[in-house]
Amino acid sequence: MSAAQKDYKKVTVKTLSDMKANGEKISMLTAYDYTMATIVDGAGLDVILVGDSASNVMAGYQTTLPITLDQMIYHASSVVRGVNRALIVVDLPFGSYQSDPKEALRSAIRIMKESGAHSIKVEGGKEIKESIKRILNAGIPVMGHLGLTPQSIYKFGTFTVRAKEEEEAKKLKQDALMLQKAGCFAIVLEKIPAKLAKEVAESLTIPVIGIGAGNGVDGQVLVLHDMIGMTKEFHPRFLRRYLNLYEDMTNALSQYVTDVKSVDFPSEDEQY
Ligand code: KIV
Repeated sequence: MSAAQKDYKKVTVKTLSDMKANGEKISMLTAYDYTMATIVDGAGLDVILVGDSASNVMAGYQTTLPITLDQMIYHASSVVRGVNRALIVVDLPFGSYQSDPKEALRSAIRIMKESGAHSIKVEGGKEIKESIKRILNAGIPVMGHLGLTPQSIYKFGTFTVRAKEEEEAKKLKQDALMLQKAGCFAIVLEKIPAKLAKEVAESLTIPVIGIGAGNGVDGQVLVLHDMIGMTKEFHPRFLRRYLNLYEDMTNALSQYVTDVKSVDFPSEDEQY
């Protein structure tokens, strides 16, 4: 369904719910710093995710596991300073919410108080139900995340498509319903069959945002650095690259080296 885009001045969790009700797709990208956040927000993205993919993209780790709560707060507060319109969601990092609901709430409160972000995201289903409820009870909006959940990568052992088998698909559907019933405002579904994602999106009233989950969901999310081609080793089928910045930047920087070495830069016009 194509729907007329409304001009939302400020995106809230209520806006996302209205968008789903009106059939308007939700656009979401990651950002981890002030400058990128100003560009992403200025371009009209509805949701900005301060993802724990910062662990890969910003810090160069192989997985999302090493990033800490303090580091997430640093990234989130930088993003908050650059955003006027988008809803800002921040990942609770691995180890900050899985052990018990009180710790989960403490971590979520720290994100909200110290960064000024609008909501948090957690990975998992019924295993973390009590933590989700505790956070929601404190008035903090929660986004769920099911399917390929990178914080559990060592349990999966691989980054391949999840929930292809009936048993896992059934659990995913149950978890999605549980997240909605608990009060989550939206769910991310990562790398699952498009047919299953569409079925989940159609069965829920809250928005379902996909990454590698086809076009039958209520919105799409990508990692910013992947979609603008700043990263070059990552080529999953679901990724569309809108720019080729790795190559463009390398060419620009090489040109700068040449210009400095040849004293072409600075020119007469570029000095005082
Ligand atoms: O951390 C992240 O960037 C994410 C997205 C892949 C949804 O969780």
